[in-house]
Amino acid sequence: MLRPSLLSFYILALSSIVYAKPSFHAALQDIRIQARQQDGNNNHSVVLLADLATNGDVTRSGEIIRNILQTTAPATVDNSIVYTRPDAVSKSGQGGLDSAVCRKDTCCIWSYIVPTMVTAFSENGGTRCSALARSAIRMVPEFARDGSVGSGGADGSILLSAGELQRNENRGLGNYANLILSWRDTFRLYAPGISVADLIQVGAIVATVTCPGGPRIRTFVGRPDVDDRIPPPAEHLLPNPASSASNILELFAAKTFTATDVVALVGAHTVSHQYVTEPKYAGFPQDTTAGVFDTKFYAETGGAVPPVGVYSFESDKVLSTDAVTQPMWNDYAQPGAQTKWTDAYATAYFRLSLLGVQKLNGLTDCSGVLPLSKPVP
Ligand code: HEM
Ligand SMILES: *[C@@H]1O[C@H](CO)[C@@H](O)[C@H](O)[C@H]1NC(C)=O
Repeated sequence: MLRPSLLSFYILALSSIVYAKPSFHAALQDIRIQARQQDGNNNHSVVLLADLATNGDVTRSGEIIRNILQTTAPATVDNSIVYTRPDAVSKSGQGGLDSAVCRKDTCCIWSYIVPTMVTAFSENGGTRCSALARSAIRMVPEFARDGSVGSGGADGSILLSAGELQRNENRGLGNYANLILSWRDTFRLYAPGISVADLIQVGAIVATVTCPGGPRIRTFVGRPDVDDRIPPPAEHLLPNPASSASNILELFAAKTFTATDVVALVGAHTVSHQYVTEPKYAGFPQDTTAGVFDTKFYAETGGAVPPVGVYSFESDKVLSTDAVTQPMWNDYAQPGAQTKWTDAYATAYFRLSLLGVQKLNGLTDCSGVLPLSKPVP
């Protein structure tokens, strides 16, 4: 039998291990983050957002989100993570979209919505993503309508606030906007709480992974919609093709993004087309592999003359030559950089998908409902 003094020693030793553990991990994490921040080429933002910054992570979702925001966990989920509907395992065999078991499970409704999205976002037997997929991806960075974190953001305002969608900076998004609202009307019969904010964010992530080469980005739901009586946020605070590199970096920095994040994010132009920027070249893509989420865009932007049939935005050209961003740009332009880029894209994009959401601890991880990712052909 242990003597009392020895016993209390053991308890003391044990409890100090238990208490030491989190701070030890935090210290290690700090060292890793500092090391990364000294490497300008791989310097993602680690700024915590919303309730994670004020209250810490108090739920499993909060913990996962914090780790991704601080880049100690990847923002992608691999193809082994697949959602199983509760009706598929219910003993009675009762189920379906309108069933009680489905209504009780937050991700169930999304397992019905996502295949509908995939149909809209695929083209040419799934070898390319479609014009609607491009709109879905473009709708998301229409975020930065004021200079601060915490207002605007992933709150559905682009579709819900009066007049916002009609702005010049949102030209061309009307068809997809109508599709989102029709999805909302269909699916809210089964899930009344479904938000436009979630439909926009989940739509963009589904669109991305529907493009061959696109990352499978971790997906949370539970964003509330903006109150549509609130006037829309200020206009003209998005970067535009005539913005300078430092102006672009400033606008994104105000939303917690580093230069590394920005260079990774504009890689979305690997699937874009332009219509209104230069009407003479309407319909031109920004690289030679339209509808494929590859790194060709980086290699093909910034040369003296773009390849035949390709139009490069001035804003992308200045990022490809700016002293701060050129090394990162050139990194992604190298052969073999696909995973490096899509991992960085996913990290920055994940942050984008949560901006302005106040209760990150209250979100639900539904990543398993995503379609599987496909390699670059
Ligand atoms: C420096 C910041 C950015 C600027 C100045 C910019 C500018 C533009 C412009 C001018 C267009 C074409 C509009 C037209 O002529 O029809 C466009 C399209 C697009 N952008 Fe960006 N963009 C930026 C960042 C981003 C980011 C961060 C993403 C996504 C993460 C993104 C995704 C897209 C997509 C997918 C399209 C194609 C839409 C389509 O093909 O219908 N852009 N962007
Ligand atoms: C990393 O990013 C932060 C925030 O943008 C910046 O202050 C810092 O200078 C960057 N570090 C390097 C080495 O580029």
